Amino acid sequence: KALINYTFIVEETPYTRLCSTKNILTVNGQFPGPTLYVTKGETVIVDVYNKGSYGITIHWHGVKMPRYPWSDGPVYVTQCHIQPGGKFSQKVIFSSEEGTLWWHAHSDWSRATVHGAIIIYPKKGTSYPFPKPHAEVPILLGEWWKKDIMEVLTEFVQNGGDPQISDAYTINGQPGDLYPCSKPETFKLLVDYGKMYLLRIINVDMQDILFFSIAKHQITVVGTDASYTKPLARDYIAISPGQTIDVLLEANQSPDHYYMAARAYSSAKGVEYDNTTTTAVVQYNGNYTPSPPSLPFLPDYNDTNASVNFTGSLRSLANKDHPVDVPTNITTQLIFTVSVNTFPCPINRTCKGPNGTMLAASVNNISFVNPKIDVLEAYYYHINGVFGTRFPSFPPYVFNFTAEYLPLLLELPNRWTEVKVLDYDSVVELVFQGTNLVAGTDHPMHLHGYSFYVVGWGFGNFNKDKDPLGYNLVDPPLQNTIAVPKNGWTTIRFKADNPGVWLMHCHIERHLTWGMDMVFIVKNGPSPEVQLLPPPPDMPPC
Ligand code: C2O
Ligand code: CU
Repeated sequence: KALINYTFIVEETPYTRLCSTKNILTVNGQFPGPTLYVTKGETVIVDVYNKGSYGITIHWHGVKMPRYPWSDGPVYVTQCHIQPGGKFSQKVIFSSEEGTLWWHAHSDWSRATVHGAIIIYPKKGTSYPFPKPHAEVPILLGEWWKKDIMEVLTEFVQNGGDPQISDAYTINGQPGDLYPCSKPETFKLLVDYGKMYLLRIINVDMQDILFFSIAKHQITVVGTDASYTKPLARDYIAISPGQTIDVLLEANQSPDHYYMAARAYSSAKGVEYDNTTTTAVVQYNGNYTPSPPSLPFLPDYNDTNASVNFTGSLRSLANKDHPVDVPTNITTQLIFTVSVNTFPCPINRTCKGPNGTMLAASVNNISFVNPKIDVLEAYYYHINGVFGTRFPSFPPYVFNFTAEYLPLLLELPNRWTEVKVLDYDSVVELVFQGTNLVAGTDHPMHLHGYSFYVVGWGFGNFNKDKDPLGYNLVDPPLQNTIAVPKNGWTTIRFKADNPGVWLMHCHIERHLTWGMDMVFIVKNGPSPEVQLLPPPPDMPPC
């Protein structure tokens, strides 16, 4: 079968938002970037040309890329930057995914503007497990900074602790009516009364879980992270950075203009956040005099229950056509703490963390340090001294993770480049344990190369005797990004059947930059069909 081809030209393009113009990095001049349309099981070749002024990488978020991490994209994990003037042909291999995913830059903070939707249609002869919608619309919830994003990142790194909050949230690249100089360009969704619409909602923002809702309309969730869910009717959704949520919208209200809106859910105590609200308009076609739209209900910015109640209500469709396959007979039990920590402030700097410290973040108290040569290359070519294989499977100390005061010692993580090696086909159960070291907050954890079942979650410390009794092994949602609740825990399961080098990280960009990431190496299986494929000839060199 013929391969589908896309060309991505990464280049600086002037865009005007919030009354000022700046150059942003785009793909093909578009912001948000182009949508990829594929059918389940297809392979796509994307020729990425870097015509910008600094290096970049591109990642296909949620695409499992069986046996082919070479095109996965996270910088220093599976490749180095595509340098200015460089080109990299990326082979994107779709297998079991069906629904909505997205692609984004995976180096520095370039993904703020370099991102787009991926729509994966059912195979020929199969259809959606819901009535065919009249139209389908990607809804990208993003963020906008007035400053250049590289400057934002530099300032962030220089004074660790300053959250560098955005100047606006956006819907399909537009801030909406409530921001200065924005109203004429507000995104409008035109609908016909009585028709059904499929909204493919993607949280492409950098720093926040978002609440989203539409005035006067209920929405019905039918999928998340390119996997179908049981229909879930709700007034609002909570969506993590990285996550996608497909919803049906029935245009069943009196013809008028209605706002859809999104704003932050921000749970870290005392941490500044962008408290603005982005809007777009659901506009009914027809002849009528529209009334001024009013804002829909959105939960309060710190309403943890509103966030976890929504996230915890998602269930796999789990029917004959879309069965679940929850792994049992666990062979590998892991417990990973996810924490915000501190480092002493380096001399000659002002750090804005608590008591003048520099903020950091960690998984099992290891703040990941990017190697100079990407982990995949070092692994494949047996280059020594790039990474170690002693990532701890359990936190180093037994203590009350979510207590108000925790030992100072634990606030200082280790700066290491350690990976966790998994045998092929090992059956992994992983408990993420949130902590209250410097501040408790939610962490949307994302795993490359896999989707995982979310079998349980709760607040406080994970109890290994009691909590597993409540696991859902019947219809847990299949996701690639899951928000670990503030001062709580979440358990996921997956079968390590995709050999390669796979990054796992918090999808809140500042936490990732601070080191809340780690790498799995999944070993080859016994026969060639279950082993890593060879690299392409044009891997960007380190
Ligand atoms: Cu959305 Cu590591 O990526
Ligand atoms: Cu985080």
